Order: sequence, then C-alpha cells, then structure tokens
Amino acid sequence: MKLYKIKKSLIDKRGLYANCDIKEGTKIIEYKGKIISVRQSEIDPKFDNDKAIYLFNINKRYDLDGNFKYNIARLINHSCDPNCEVYGVGLKVWVYAIRNINKNEELSYDYGFSYDKDFKKYPCKCGSKNCAGYILREGSRWRIKKKTKSK
Ligand SMILES: C[S@@+](CC[C@H](N)C(=O)[O-])C[C@H]1O[C@@H](n2cnc3c(N)ncnc32)[C@H](O)[C@@H]1O
Ligand SMILES: [Zn+2]
Repeated sequence: MKLYKIKKSLIDKRGLYANCDIKEGTKIIEYKGKIISVRQSEIDPKFDNDKAIYLFNINKRYDLDGNFKYNIARLINHSCDPNCEVYGVGLKVWVYAIRNINKNEELSYDYGFSYDKDFKKYPCKCGSKNCAGYILREGSRWRIKKKTKSK
C-alpha cells in the first residue's frame, strides 16, 4: 500500500497526505529527478536563486533537480512545524517521517528558504501554531520574530 495520497491542500492547491499511520523514521516517498553536477547547477540560470525549491544537494559533486511531473514528492508543501525531512542516501533523495504521522495528516517539510531581501515574497500558510508568517528555514525565523518585537 502506498503511504501517501495526493489531495487538495489547506496550505496551497495540492499536497501529499498520509494514507495510513506512518511511524517516525519511515521512508515515505522517493524525491525523484535528474542528477546533475553541482557545477552545472551553479551555472544554470534556472537555479539562480536561493529559492530553487526543487533542487537538492546530494553530495559535494551532485545535486538533484526534482522539477519534473513524475516527481510526485514535489507536491509536498512547506510547514514551520514539519513532519518530514528530505535527505540523500547514496545518489537517491528520500522523504522521511521525522515523527509519527497520523492517517490523513498533510505531509510537509521545511523548504529551507534563507532570510534575504525577498523573504516577504513567500508568505507561509502552513497554519501551525509556530508559523513564522513567511516560508523561511527554521534557523532564520528568529530574525522575523525579533523584527516584530522591536516594532
Ligand atoms: C513544490 S510546490 C508544492 C505543491 C503545490 N502546493 C502545488 O499544488 O503545486 C511549492 C509551491 O507551493 C506553495 N507552498 C508550499 N508550501 C506553502 C506554504 N506553507 N504556504 C504558502 N504556499 C506554499 C508555494 O507557492 C510554493 O512555491
Ligand atoms: Zn508556516
């Protein structure tokens, strides 16, 4: 049985949802795509910003471009309180559960966007209690909180 299903999302258009209860540590879906060299991704204007959301680094030499229709995992939305993480094992990239996930919960991971002049272009609609308001990687969210406090 597939561990995920595609459904209309409360966060944005479509998303992936748990098709059954999923235990922490489970490999849920492969993040499929084309392996390209890091050199190639550095010079290709297609990836020329920090928000290249379909690009994953595999190791020093290779990246994975997941911007293809056959890559179902690309439908996973960002959350400030994610239940998944995406990382490489060998030359493959997998989406893992980082906690137990209940059937029908939306799958999400931290897109890892950096804090830069464009951060306001990416409002976050994840709806979690700790939502930063913008799609930003966990390590950068304190910058926004500080800004709000000093107002
Ligand atoms: C990789 S796609 C995710 C799938 C998308 N929901 C769809 O139906 O095509 C990434 C895009 O989804 C949207 N998205 C993902 N997570 C979001 C969030 N937490 N808040 C607002 N928009 C989000 C953004 O537009 C982002 O550029
Ligand atoms: Zn959020």
